[in-house]
Amino acid sequence: MKEFGKGFPGNQSLTNKKLLFGLWETADIICEIQINCKFTEFINNKSNVLYIEQESKRRQFFYQFSSFDAEHKILRGYIMSTKKEKWTSDNIPNLDGKVIIVTGGNSGLGFETVKLFAQKGAEVVLACRSVEKGEAAKSTIGKIKGQITVMKLDLASLENVKEFVNQFKAKYERLDILFNNAGIMTTPYGLTEDGLEQQQGVNHFGHFALTAQLFGLLKATKGSRVVNTSSTGHKFGKMDFNNLLYENGKEYTPMNAYRRSKLENLLFTYEMQRRIEKEGLDIKVLAAHPGTARTEIGRYAEKELWFKLFKPLIMLATHHNAYGGALPQVRAGIDANAKGGEYFGPDGYMEQKGNPVVVKSNKASHNEQDAKQLWIESEKLTGVTFDI
Ligand SMILES: NC(=O)c1ccc[n+]([C@@H]2O[C@H](COP(=O)([O-])OP(=O)(O)OC[C@H]3O[C@@H](n4cnc5c(N)ncnc54)[C@H](OP(=O)(O)O)[C@@H]3O)[C@@H](O)[C@H]2O)c1
Repeated sequence: MKEFGKGFPGNQSLTNKKLLFGLWETADIICEIQINCKFTEFINNKSNVLYIEQESKRRQFFYQFSSFDAEHKILRGYIMSTKKEKWTSDNIPNLDGKVIIVTGGNSGLGFETVKLFAQKGAEVVLACRSVEKGEAAKSTIGKIKGQITVMKLDLASLENVKEFVNQFKAKYERLDILFNNAGIMTTPYGLTEDGLEQQQGVNHFGHFALTAQLFGLLKATKGSRVVNTSSTGHKFGKMDFNNLLYENGKEYTPMNAYRRSKLENLLFTYEMQRRIEKEGLDIKVLAAHPGTARTEIGRYAEKELWFKLFKPLIMLATHHNAYGGALPQVRAGIDANAKGGEYFGPDGYMEQKGNPVVVKSNKASHNEQDAKQLWIESEKLTGVTFDI
């Protein structure tokens, strides 16, 4: 409990936190406010007027210590605590008229993302490799305000990515948010239809080709966003441009290829944001990770002995449900205060679960040299270039 002026969080940035104000005499909390600046900046701004209800009277006061007591007699304010802001699906605004694509929308985080946005009125394209699975998933979603359209998208086939884009463009004239969410994890060594190592092929290269071909529509839509789903696993990812695709399985391990693909998601995010800023375009590119969420992503790991042994412990200690896991990417897609190049994840222990907030990715993910090289390789390997 800190009195105004004494040990106050003056220069502390209070982004993502709420301040609780209380009465000195009774210790009643009188209001909760959220500010997204340093506290000193907030109280020095005279336009920050707050109305409160107390003892049935409507009162007005400024957050200025000097005039506070003298003017209103009754109140001496103090901060009881700083409370973390909770961001939930209630924060999603009305989305009537917005068009959104979610890749891998039939399962896990993607499914939750489709549901939340459709409930808020958006027209959501549930992009999935099996239309049957997509329709089945759609049929489990109850009443929605918006619309869900299932469309086939197989990220392991560049031909199919192109087909998807053509069909999408034939139907829609705008694209507000593109969620590059689909992914596979720790699969045995294998290749996509185009001969790319499959984890990187689906998780990064397929999404790169998709985003590049939808770029014209993103540019044409005011305030559009791209959100790439990464993972805390990126922290162990290593780039090796001499053997980017683990040719013929050389040096391939299921986990390392997954981690590399998740590092690529972030290199791509930051590089695209840099290029967009340079051109002054009205598009934001962000990334997110879910922590660990109960979805189908572990279907390959689940066969491993270590996973079988530790599964109950892992589930208990770290996992949240798919809804909780989806919130960081949902927030990255829709929070009006989110900035291009930000990365969202849960705020709990080791970012495994919790409230969605801005988090930091590792140094390797900000390596501009690697990001540029990956961009060049991605254009070469997919045969698709960005009009940027
Ligand atoms: N869950 C976690 O703990 C966790 C942790 C870190 C990061 N992530 C990331 O979160 C994202 C979503 O995963 P999730 O946890 O929701 O897993 P999930 O339940 O397995 O969902 C993955 C989705 O991706 C789709 N997909 C796979 N290959 C595809 C392809 N070739 N073309 C198009 N779609 C394809 C899947 O379709 P099918 O159903 O047809 O297979 C499914 O819809 C992934 O990028 C993953 O790396 C998850």
